[in-house]
Amino acid sequence: MKNITIINGPNLNLLGKREPHIYGKQAFVDYFDHLKRIFPSIQLDYFQSNIEGHIIDKLHKVGFSTKAIILNAGAYTHTSLAIADAIASINSPVIEVHISNVFSREAIRHTSLIAANCKGSVSGFGMQSYEMALHYIVNHIKE
Ligand code: DQA
Repeated sequence: MKNITIINGPNLNLLGKREPHIYGKQAFVDYFDHLKRIFPSIQLDYFQSNIEGHIIDKLHKVGFSTKAIILNAGAYTHTSLAIADAIASINSPVIEVHISNVFSREAIRHTSLIAANCKGSVSGFGMQSYEMALHYIVNHIKE
């Protein structure tokens, strides 16, 4: 099993336009092309939704077959027990990713309801946070 799924949550469809001083100027689709170029042997899938239930449905759909999931749950990170439960319910390991350093921001962002159910978390390295998670999966998560 070689495929890895990246799931982005609410407002991350606006990357490149949204608060560029925090999230940068690059659209995710452009960054996704870069990821596909630097990991040519991996089948990378990308899904984005602003809707909590759709993110949960996607976790259910891929969570028993994909090698690993990289999840940026956006603000749902800090609020969604339902997404935390979905992560606990599936087999594929999930890596939590954030573009910004959530710990240097408002106190509400210091709490992650999903972190305990994830393999690990990467936060604060800009778009490169996704790349770091991918390197971990490729080097340390066996088929
Ligand atoms: C984010 C951090 C969250 O606190 C925020 O709600 C986001 C993006 C990040 O990638 O830095 O939407 O997950």
